[in-house]
Amino acid sequence: MELAINLQPKQHELLGLCEDSPCSWIGYGGSRGGGKSKAARDCMLVRRMKYPNTKGMIFRRVYEDLRQNHIDKFLSEFPDFEKFYKRADHEVALPNGSKIVFGYAETLDDVKRKFHGPEYMDIFVDQAEQLTEAELRQIKMANRWPNMPIGKCKMVLFFNPGGVGVAFLKRIFHDRKYLQTEDANDYAFVQAYGWDNVMWAEPSLLAEGLTAKDFYSWDSERRFKYFIEKTQYGRELNSLPQTLRVGHLLGSFDSFAGQYFAEVFDRDRQVIPQDNAEALIRPWWSRWISIDWGFAHYSAILWHAKGIASPKELKHLLGIEADSPQGFSADDCAEYACWGAGADSQDFPVTGCVCQARQRQHHCRAVGRCVFGRWTAATASGG
Ligand SMILES: Nc1ncnc2c1ncn2[C@@H]1O[C@H](COP(=O)(O)OP(=O)(O)OP(=O)(O)O)[C@@H](O)[C@H]1O
Ligand SMILES: [Mg+2]
Repeated sequence: MELAINLQPKQHELLGLCEDSPCSWIGYGGSRGGGKSKAARDCMLVRRMKYPNTKGMIFRRVYEDLRQNHIDKFLSEFPDFEKFYKRADHEVALPNGSKIVFGYAETLDDVKRKFHGPEYMDIFVDQAEQLTEAELRQIKMANRWPNMPIGKCKMVLFFNPGGVGVAFLKRIFHDRKYLQTEDANDYAFVQAYGWDNVMWAEPSLLAEGLTAKDFYSWDSERRFKYFIEKTQYGRELNSLPQTLRVGHLLGSFDSFAGQYFAEVFDRDRQVIPQDNAEALIRPWWSRWISIDWGFAHYSAILWHAKGIASPKELKHLLGIEADSPQGFSADDCAEYACWGAGADSQDFPVTGCVCQARQRQHHCRAVGRCVFGRWTAATASGG
């Protein structure tokens, strides 16, 4: 059977890693529109055709997204395979005995149930940033196939910056910081950008008498310029507010909104009971509120209070050993302590807080619980 598959260079790199590298975790991530989801479908099909009687899964968190972004697209890209698609099972049963399963699981419990038992030679998780590390690790346990040599089974995580899983993805694929039990050779990463995908540039290239081959002969900088100047999608991404632009256009893991507290916030260390906060914060301390309205996703409202605490109070109420016997000066406090309360937009309980700069993380404490609220449409427009 003839397959109409034309992998772009980065997609080809991914297939190469699947085939030839010893890694069992592969990341394919970055900015929007880089060709990640298409790579998932094409590489999955190539591998199922190459390895008869094997099973692979394309996964998304929510069924409706899976249907729209993968099942429907797969069937329209490969109409000859429609007759092999079993609707009730959400799977394509190929004539060589291989299967492509389209899977989803919305909660950790779902993940545990669905991935306890079945085995998949390949598991490709699209929008993997929507899953937690615990969920991804649970899924990985089903990534095995009998009689397969080491390194042949692959778990590929396709993702954009942001989302609940971003700290884990950033650590293993971008920072490459591994725990003692992890082996760096088990992880590989392909950074994908919108300007790696010639599809966006095709109309302009055509109008200028240029081809995809010309496009890929340019270096990344030239393709980037062409993307943001001469393609509709590139222009739109380039005109986003900066906090979104760095993630959606540039695919940056370092500065994308939501990253700030990812490696700093440890609930056990940074959260203190509300009673302790009430004992600590005095009526004469200065207080203020800050709001991050969250352009597209979450908003946070923080109540802060700042003042001088004695070494005894710091020790008993916060577990901090003060360096100076006089306690903190007002200036120290500005640097060291920024107590506050966060609330969601529904009921504003003064029960939580997030505070302090990364380099002062040891002196940072939050009160009660930390709540990030989601604006309702009405609140957002009023806000
Ligand atoms: N090799 C290819 N051949 C033909 N079309 C392609 C190819 N790669 C990507 N495309 C097309 O480019 C568009 C964007 O690709 P895709 O949806 O895979 O990007 P993405 O990185 O998953 O985007 P997002 O970040 O929004 O999830 C889609 O219409 C897709 O079909
Ligand atoms: Mg996608």
